[in-house]
Amino acid sequence: MKRTGVIGSLNIDVVSKVERFLKPGETASGTFDIFVGGGKGANQACALGRLGAKPFMAGCIGDTFYGPEYLRHLADDGVDTSGVRMIHGLKPGVAVITVSAQDGQNHIIVAPGANAACTPDWARQLLPELMELDIVLFQLETPLETTLLIARALREAGKTLILDPAPAVPLEQDTLALFDYVTPNETELNILTGLPTDTEAEIQAAARALLGQGARCVIAKAGGRGAFIAAAGETVKIPPYRVTPVDTTAAGDAFNAGLADALARGEELEKAVRFANAVGALATTAMGAQSALPTRNQVNLFLETNGGMAQ
Ligand code: RIB
Repeated sequence: MKRTGVIGSLNIDVVSKVERFLKPGETASGTFDIFVGGGKGANQACALGRLGAKPFMAGCIGDTFYGPEYLRHLADDGVDTSGVRMIHGLKPGVAVITVSAQDGQNHIIVAPGANAACTPDWARQLLPELMELDIVLFQLETPLETTLLIARALREAGKTLILDPAPAVPLEQDTLALFDYVTPNETELNILTGLPTDTEAEIQAAARALLGQGARCVIAKAGGRGAFIAAAGETVKIPPYRVTPVDTTAAGDAFNAGLADALARGEELEKAVRFANAVGALATTAMGAQSALPTRNQVNLFLETNGGMAQ
């Protein structure tokens, strides 16, 4: 089994469920919850932990507003948090999330807080530990220059690197080429390529265009439409698992963790994406980010009852 790790954000999620998304200037009532575990990086680490992968997590968190409690939760889920720096007097990142009661779709606003302290100097000190990893997940909620510094060093060392380009910003060719797999959702793919991604044909065309922009292999996450793998001129659709979504928050994070876990177990890519689809689908069936991430047993049971492959 290869060793997995995540470099990225840790947020406290403040979640409101609304009947529908609001128009500008509109006020409506909704429910409110604070979910201690959020942040794309930590969600991916937590999901890997629940799958039994014993991942390493590197990031920065503040010691106010649930910070210390947060790390205990992650450790309980089997995450090695020794790469997370606790910064005195800072707030953790905070995400304000609205979830539509109609279809579970979300809007997310993130205040980076302590995530901004993931500086290049911090990363240089961590590099020896990161060199112990085989498969490493990145997202874009921590400073890009730090992500690039780490990714360049790990690529040179021959590690397998996965980039979840979220929140999406246009990326240079050299940046995209650092990663073995880039895993945007439809919205992110649109931002990265400037191309429409409303239909399956458009998603496939945009994924191929991202290859032309420097990506080595694009795995487009398309929710209820499944996922599309684009590599070397060929696009393959991996069909979705059918679930009734309650809240899609962290489904993409769960997908990435499922992908990394399956690759670490030596699965070939199409099977790994099928497994990732199952982990992502299950994460939509409950409210919240880490509160909704499935365990290995839950994924296996789901696959058994859905004609998939149990691990
Ligand atoms: O991907 C979902 C995550 O995005 C949330 O947990 C929130 O913290 C934001 O980072």
